[in-house]
Amino acid sequence: MKHIFAKKSLKRLLEEMKDDNRLRRVLGPVTLTSLGVGAIIGAGIFVATGAAAKGVAGPALMVSYALAGVTCIFAALCYAEFASMAPVAGSAYTYAYTTMGELFAWIIGWDLVLEYAVGSATVANGWSGYFQSVLGKLGLALPEYLQKAHYTYENGHFLATNSWVNLPAICIVLVVTLILIKGIRESARFNAAMVFLKVAAVLFVIFVGVFFINPSNYIPFAPFGWTGLSFFGIPMFGGTNAGGDPVGMIAGSAIIFFAYIGFDSVSTHAEEAINPKRDIPIGIIASLLICTVLYIAVVAVLTGMVPYAQLSRDAAVADAFRQAGLPWAEFIIAAAGVAGITSVLLVMMLSGPRVFLAMARDGLIPAKFFADVHPKYRTPWKSTMAIGVFVSVLAGLLPIDALLHLTNIGTLFAFVMVCGAVLIMRKIDPHIERPFRCPWVPVVPLLGIGSCILLMTSLPAANWWRLFAWLALGLVIYFTYSRRHSFLGKELRGEPITDKPIIHVEGH
Ligand code: ALA
Repeated sequence: MKHIFAKKSLKRLLEEMKDDNRLRRVLGPVTLTSLGVGAIIGAGIFVATGAAAKGVAGPALMVSYALAGVTCIFAALCYAEFASMAPVAGSAYTYAYTTMGELFAWIIGWDLVLEYAVGSATVANGWSGYFQSVLGKLGLALPEYLQKAHYTYENGHFLATNSWVNLPAICIVLVVTLILIKGIRESARFNAAMVFLKVAAVLFVIFVGVFFINPSNYIPFAPFGWTGLSFFGIPMFGGTNAGGDPVGMIAGSAIIFFAYIGFDSVSTHAEEAINPKRDIPIGIIASLLICTVLYIAVVAVLTGMVPYAQLSRDAAVADAFRQAGLPWAEFIIAAAGVAGITSVLLVMMLSGPRVFLAMARDGLIPAKFFADVHPKYRTPWKSTMAIGVFVSVLAGLLPIDALLHLTNIGTLFAFVMVCGAVLIMRKIDPHIERPFRCPWVPVVPLLGIGSCILLMTSLPAANWWRLFAWLALGLVIYFTYSRRHSFLGKELRGEPITDKPIIHVEGH
């Protein structure tokens, strides 16, 4: 039992990296930043902004974006320290293994799978909204029973809609799954083109939209107040909506936090970076800063162009240009939105199997399945496929807001663990080489922990229970399978290890 807290030493981690069965080191700082931006700008800004400004924060949503951005920068500084110190795949999972031991590593790995899988389903849902808006412009429409998720989430209850499944969301997930199985080399090139398109679309929104701002739309600036704090569903500060969920600037932050998710995925590529100690911190921090500035500008433009109460829920950015009398711009933005959101989906769905791969290498999940590499394409095809099927079911059936809230709480939880891990590592191993040091420790990690918990408590309470249910399922798996099969555990118990996988995966 004591081995459940066994830690993998950093030395061992770095030694494992010397094996020749690693991913190929081909990513430089620009590619990494571009992967970061590719993972970040997507459904959050293009879709979630509309509902958040309309029903939760009003024009003060631009402050919500600043608050969420600052929260992410605290977490990013902690991620960067770890990523530079232990530049291996697996991200927060691996960091937890060296600092807090196997059980915590398992919890965080399991949580990351939630983040990436449910996050992918959220993004696929957002993609579907934009895709259907492009179809509409071309005079085409899907039958009503294939347009939306089967369930909607209203006032704390899931209700069936008159749609069977969200067909476009399912299709895009399956297409992306096939691209990823075929190979990551193509994916990186595809990602670069998509990033270019969406950054161009965002700049277009800012520099064209600015001419259509009507300052009177900024009044009142914070119609729902500046707070919106609740604790397990009990409102602490600020108001609530009809369903009892918190509203206000901070509550808005907890929702649009989704728009920043993705910078952490840069660290899952640590193993593929040419100079991870320098380039991973650059990739993480540069992509986050770029997106924070762009987001605040986009929201300032949007809420200036259209009274917040009139923003669209499904395709807010594109629709604002329709309302401003620029239908051609609406089409360009919707098309670029489709492309841009696709690239987010690609990176998110690529990250999940990478975490599984890291866990399979440690024996915590069956390597035969999760670390099986395709003989021709050299990709972890079985875990990619398993995640693809799971994501398509979620995306086809569940509504975007429920999926988004669950992704946020799972990710915020991972960030809390990473910030905590930096503090622990500074204590237990103060002299190890840290090519990138998080500044002002312990202040920054503590602020990171505090601000993430603040946002977690501002989310509708049901998400806490869903997170606990997911973690409980994870613990059952850990105690029935992983604990006995862990390679580190076997080593400590003096048992032979016969099933260690030899993994050879293609890099970009
Ligand atoms: N940040 C990503 C998005 O907004 C997940 O789509």
